[in-house]
Amino acid sequence: MEEMQADASRQQPAATKQQQEVGQSQIQLSHASYMNRYPDEYEAVREYLHGHDSKNKASKYKLLSFGSATGEEAITLATMYYPDNGGGGDNTVIFGVDLHQESIDKARASWVAATTNNGGKIIPESKVTFLNGKDTSISAHGLYDAIFANSVLCYHGTKGVNPESILKKYPFEQFESSLGYLDASLKVGGVLAIVNTNYHFSRSEISKRYTPLLAKCANFVPKVDAETVAYERSDNKNGMEDCVWVKKEANL
Ligand SMILES: C[S@@+](CC[C@H](N)C(=O)[O-])C[C@H]1O[C@@H](n2cnc3c(N)ncnc32)[C@H](O)[C@@H]1O
Repeated sequence: MEEMQADASRQQPAATKQQQEVGQSQIQLSHASYMNRYPDEYEAVREYLHGHDSKNKASKYKLLSFGSATGEEAITLATMYYPDNGGGGDNTVIFGVDLHQESIDKARASWVAATTNNGGKIIPESKVTFLNGKDTSISAHGLYDAIFANSVLCYHGTKGVNPESILKKYPFEQFESSLGYLDASLKVGGVLAIVNTNYHFSRSEISKRYTPLLAKCANFVPKVDAETVAYERSDNKNGMEDCVWVKKEANL
């Protein structure tokens, strides 16, 4: 944890105007989500964070569910992966950010229900906060120890979608800007968890400052090759794909 706290205090450049604009505009249109959707990814991130923090049991991580939809991811993290045991335990806080107000309202109602129906265990309501990303930049509550941007950095599932329409609606350059927006709010030593993107993270400029953490990612959104304007073959290495990345250095 010492290392992460030291990292948190390091100066990081803010997102550029363009990164901010892309970061705050709608990418994926579907609001579908469900509880514990990416268990292997969540477990890999938790193991990594706890590995950094083996001495300090009263850990307090700050996590972001970017594209939180109806809240299942943030609630999963709060209740299953970073539960607060009410005394010297895990004091992690989670922010969920979306642009779709109806989903945010549903997420808030689900969280209130979860805090009151948790088998008698007390969960402070302040552990999870849902925000509208149009009004509040993610940097307002950063820097984060981990950012989950699952099934968000993609244009997928819409009728008639194909590599050409993806490149038009969400070009590779915009993917890079989205990543820049997230990167500006992530601590050095923090984790970026991105299942289901339209493009390979490893092709982005910022990936040079990241290192992969092996995790089973279960990507179902096909990657697009911007050069050939075609879907790429899966790079699934025995189920271990490159969806979880650790930030090695800031963009200085
Ligand atoms: C398919 S849901 C993913 C929900 C959850 N992350 C999951 O994987 O289960 C995609 C969500 O991303 C949201 N979204 C799209 N662009 C966004 C942006 N720029 N900032 C925040 N949320 C965004 C959509 O409104 C939608 O609710």
